[in-house]
Amino acid sequence: MLRGDRLEIKIMISIVEKRPSLIGHVDVWYCFTDDHRLNGRLDQYEAMLSPAELEQYQQLIHGNNGRDYLVSRALLRTVLSEYCGLAPEKISFCVNAYGKPELSNSEAQGLIQFNTAHTSGLTVCVVTRDNDVGVDVESRAENRSILNMADDYFSALELQALNGRADDQQLDYFYRYWTLKEAYIKARGEGLSIPLHDFSVVLDDQGAFSGFVGPEADRWDFGILCKNLNYTAALAMGGKIDSIAYFHSIPLGQQVELGADDAFNHFPVNTSGQRNRMIG
Ligand SMILES: CC(C)(COP(=O)(O)OP(=O)(O)OC[C@H]1O[C@@H](n2cnc3c(N)ncnc32)[C@H](O)[C@@H]1OP(=O)(O)O)[C@@H](O)C(=O)NCCC(=O)NCCS
Repeated sequence: MLRGDRLEIKIMISIVEKRPSLIGHVDVWYCFTDDHRLNGRLDQYEAMLSPAELEQYQQLIHGNNGRDYLVSRALLRTVLSEYCGLAPEKISFCVNAYGKPELSNSEAQGLIQFNTAHTSGLTVCVVTRDNDVGVDVESRAENRSILNMADDYFSALELQALNGRADDQQLDYFYRYWTLKEAYIKARGEGLSIPLHDFSVVLDDQGAFSGFVGPEADRWDFGILCKNLNYTAALAMGGKIDSIAYFHSIPLGQQVELGADDAFNHFPVNTSGQRNRMIG
């Protein structure tokens, strides 16, 4: 056995031991859709699609969004397949009354909760065991005119906090509030039937989540997953978030676990980190 093989096996064992149960734990998987390593795999991704997905892909294929759509479906299907023990193309979905996707395979009932979000160039999928979970990601515009949207979408408490920030912090805080709020409505799965003014997220001076004012406030937990020059992403869960693991994924290729500080940075996946992902 080569030294590298031993190292890889050890890493796999430690992942399984660390997470025998996913309760309170969230795995965050993401893929940059312009990654050149996806190029040779697009046909395999297309072969995973359901007839309805294929139809949607064919409508998008000649525009800018075709590749984003295909890679996002491939990420979702390959990730879910690892937790459910089903081939990616065998994963099937149904949606609730507000469009939130759930797994419909009988073998997968009750195994996991998941949610997904996309923005231009980046797709994200979060998985946990028992709790309602939601994710949002937004690519960041530098144009301050987007701040005008806060009046329509944020609560009075959030607006007051945003307006109290220094000018050079406001765009950053805007995206944090936005993605946290969107992640919450996605976790609840009831779409915009949830009035956006009726709940508030509270951020501290470092921009970290520090409180929630709303229905069943004690039940909900939140986290900023990513904040860099290009993207902001946030997570909401109907239970305490004890731990988060980040995986930079090339669907059907490398899956590399990264620390919170390195996740979502747009750099090539390090080949020494290649491993098969196993879920306890
Ligand atoms: C349906 C909704 C999730 C769309 O959100 P979006 O920002 O366009 O898209 P995202 O990339 O975040 O999420 C899309 C994914 O969410 C999932 N989704 C769809 N409906 C959902 C729902 N009701 N609940 C949770 N997840 C849902 C799907 O997996 C979808 O991916 P797919 O289209 O590939 O199947 C919904 O929350 C919405 O319309 N939001 C409006 C945005 C808004 O006003 N936000 C205010 C924040 S302050």
